Amino acid sequence: MTSNHHQSVMFDESIEGLNVKNNGIYIDATFGRGGHTRGILDQLNQSGKVIAFDQDIGAVDYAKENFNDDRLEVIHSAFVNMTELLNKRGLIGKIDGILMDLGVSSPQLDNAQRGFSFNHDGPLDMRMDQTQGMSAAQWLTSANETEIADVLYQYGEERKSRRIASAIKRYQQDKSIDTTLQLANIIASVIKTQKNKHPATRSFQAIRIFINQELKQLSETLDQIIELLACGGRLVVISFHSIEDRIVKQFIQKHSRQKQAPKGLPVMDSEFKKTALKDLGKKFASKEELQTNKRSRSAILRTAQRTELEMEKC
Ligand SMILES: C[S@@+](CC[C@H](N)C(=O)[O-])C[C@H]1O[C@@H](n2cnc3c(N)ncnc32)[C@H](O)[C@@H]1O
Repeated sequence: MTSNHHQSVMFDESIEGLNVKNNGIYIDATFGRGGHTRGILDQLNQSGKVIAFDQDIGAVDYAKENFNDDRLEVIHSAFVNMTELLNKRGLIGKIDGILMDLGVSSPQLDNAQRGFSFNHDGPLDMRMDQTQGMSAAQWLTSANETEIADVLYQYGEERKSRRIASAIKRYQQDKSIDTTLQLANIIASVIKTQKNKHPATRSFQAIRIFINQELKQLSETLDQIIELLACGGRLVVISFHSIEDRIVKQFIQKHSRQKQAPKGLPVMDSEFKKTALKDLGKKFASKEELQTNKRSRSAILRTAQRTELEMEKC
């Protein structure tokens, strides 16, 4: 039996960040077990709507079984397909808020069959969408030592990446690596246990990010967001990894920093200063939440608001 429970991270801050209008249209890009979606629905009247995405069919099935609400549509898709799917619904430029609560949910981590966790022995899969793509086990078989080391270093900031990659390839000379426990033990055999941290923490995170192309998906999705948001619409992103947060931070900065009009050019300064987003800053989990929700420890929530559009003031 696996639990379906997921404690939503920074729930109040997310709903506040979205500044929910009671008849608005909202996107929950990462439905999970729908904790944040429920919070948005609670603020909406009958004309409001939430369109939620999740690439994990388990999340979509959960929604079907547990949410009976005409105002909610849940789509089984990676969020990178958002523009295409919203375009079909005539919703480009009409979205009042988009929430992205990145990473994996507790039910994904806790289900040994999904292969995300070194704490539960199971098949080494790690795909959020099990209907497509390569499992972590398949990738470790096909990748060479340098490719593995690069992934561990780039996505896990693992300083012992080369030693781990070499141990993986040595092990594979005799046997394939099919389970999470096999991989966790190989890593533990070459690096010392760190304080409060399993030696495989960084490597598992790195492989998961790579297998699901999480950083690429995030960047490509952020690039769609300005076009999707209505005037005054909000973007709220919760990230759990420094590289992820850097991508979000740089995206918001790029679209919110005012440029000075170059001296001598025949342009009004006010024209030059228009930016697509206003940076509403970042937040961390409260002291109370840090004590009750372990996942919130690494969470960083950033908010931005769509400012004036071409001809329209918000
Ligand atoms: C941290 S959980 C979200 C939890 C949710 N906010 C809640 O309160 O229940 C992240 C969810 O996003 C999904 N996910 C991650 N990356 C995704 C992507 N690129 N496209 C769609 N869903 C994604 C995962 O499958 C997972 O269910």
